[in-house]
Amino acid sequence: MALLPILEFPDPRLRTRAQPVQQFDAALRQLIADMLQTMYAAPGIGLAATQVDVHRALLVMDVSVEKDQPQVYINPQIVARDGVEVSEEGCLSVPNIYEEIERAARVQVRAQQADGQWFECELTGLSAVCLQHEMDHLAGKLFVDYLSGLKRERIRRKLEKERRERASGAAKPAAARTARVI
Ligand code: NI
Repeated sequence: MALLPILEFPDPRLRTRAQPVQQFDAALRQLIADMLQTMYAAPGIGLAATQVDVHRALLVMDVSVEKDQPQVYINPQIVARDGVEVSEEGCLSVPNIYEEIERAARVQVRAQQADGQWFECELTGLSAVCLQHEMDHLAGKLFVDYLSGLKRERIRRKLEKERRERASGAAKPAAARTARVI
């Protein structure tokens, strides 16, 4: 297994729309294993292939407390959505930024497993938020796109400043993450 580098906003590659997964082979299983390892190590509760510069419709999640319930969604589609939920989101591609975002409270999802088998499930709460956030990544969209242009620009400048400080070795240790990072 391997840790994969995670692209960060405003990297234009994060704007790529994922193409459907068509080959359910050993390379796909390896990618899934690497994405899960990368997500757990970050640490995060969800990761879309887009974030590791693979532009295929595939995402992994684990919203369990024990981090022992990995989920894989390949070629996911939301077939029904219901209700509204506002919660604070973070993103591994937008480090240390947390904002309140509105999502559907309940989603019905159809997707394929690693062996190509289709399944359907209903997600609520954190799972529903996480899945919608990751599916946005597959469409080239980030949670900061829901914010005002002014706010997004401020975030872009803050991240660029932090990257410069990291490069010069002057970075302060990041504050402990208090919210879920997806
Ligand atoms: Ni994200």
